[in-house]
Amino acid sequence: QTAPVITIDGPSGSGKGTISRLVAERMGWHYLDSGALYRAVGVAAGWGDIDLADPAALVRCTFDTVVEFRDDGGELRVLVNGTDATGELRTETAGAAASAIAAIPEVREALKERQRAFRQAPGLVADGRDMGTVIFPDARAKVFLTASAEERAGRRYKQLSDKGVSVNLSGLLREILARDARDANRAVAPLRPAADAVTVDTTGLGIDEVVGRVLAVVAQAG
Ligand code: C5P
Repeated sequence: QTAPVITIDGPSGSGKGTISRLVAERMGWHYLDSGALYRAVGVAAGWGDIDLADPAALVRCTFDTVVEFRDDGGELRVLVNGTDATGELRTETAGAAASAIAAIPEVREALKERQRAFRQAPGLVADGRDMGTVIFPDARAKVFLTASAEERAGRRYKQLSDKGVSVNLSGLLREILARDARDANRAVAPLRPAADAVTVDTTGLGIDEVVGRVLAVVAQAG
């Protein structure tokens, strides 16, 4: 008997990470941040001076990169090859590298089993781009979170300026649109809702409201 899974997919800035963590907490289930795996390979590639235009080297890097998740008093920390890379993982550089790496089919294949290994009792909440379509097609409930590009850029702007990072809103919007286009148009596992996913548009909604809607989708799925 395999453990149940809830998948939460969507574009960057849709709030997947925050919402998925809260839903996992509310259910007492495990949580998988699949984007962190792609970001970790991106960071490791940077450390190793690997050319993002060299797919063979990136595939080797994927196999060589050890990623560990640690719960540090409620805060999720990510170790890449034994080094805490939690902060570096969230940078735009890591995100852009992850997005380039994620377009390589052998990299996606190499990460498949690693992602499925997170499926453990009592259950798993998995967030990413292809959780419902490719990694856990048999998930009990599938949610696709969206928000307008402007809203997503605004959230990212707030997140960064709260951290004291100086950013430019129109630059962020451009980056988000470029990443959306790359993720939606790639040949392998393009970002799209699973046929049986419920789309939740979070534009203008607060975190609690979104968590409530996702839990309602889960409850409906039984
Ligand atoms: O979700 P996050 O922004 O951390 O993901 C970083 C990048 O990793 C995405 O832009 C996407 O290209 C890639 N990714 C993916 N499939 C996933 C999760 C992330 O292709 N399941």
